[in-house]
Amino acid sequence: MENSEIKKLIEEAHKVKEHSYSPYSHFRVGAAIKMDDDQVFTGANIENVSFGATNCAERSAIFTALSAGYKPKSINAIAVAGDTKDFLPPCSICRQVMVEFCDPETPVYLTREDESILTTSVRELVPFAFETMDM
Ligand code: THU
Repeated sequence: MENSEIKKLIEEAHKVKEHSYSPYSHFRVGAAIKMDDDQVFTGANIENVSFGATNCAERSAIFTALSAGYKPKSINAIAVAGDTKDFLPPCSICRQVMVEFCDPETPVYLTREDESILTTSVRELVPFAFETMDM
């Protein structure tokens, strides 16, 4: 993806972060995903007083795209944005969800406060992934 497109996707992730519902952690996260037809979906982290019911930003975005009718493996890129000094990595539950719905080579753009970008991939985030029971 071109640099300007990556920056736009990150901007979308920052924008949706404003809708984060995080009264318990006060840790706002936004995610934006670009589909293979260039449509963009976004999601924020939505917390719950029963902490385990919390949904991360990445899953919010991915589930929104699937709920709109997009098929597994139609995600071309993922951007994650927070208010962190260091690069904000997706949690392991979100990584497993990415394995299910993304190609292993799907780029994942991590960001930090100084606006630098770390490009990783689903494969790099989840080496030796559990992706089938047919084994
Ligand atoms: N969180 C995300 O939304 N994405 C991440 O990549 C890491 C963590 C959320 C979950 C919870 O609402 C808050 O951040 C603190 O863990």
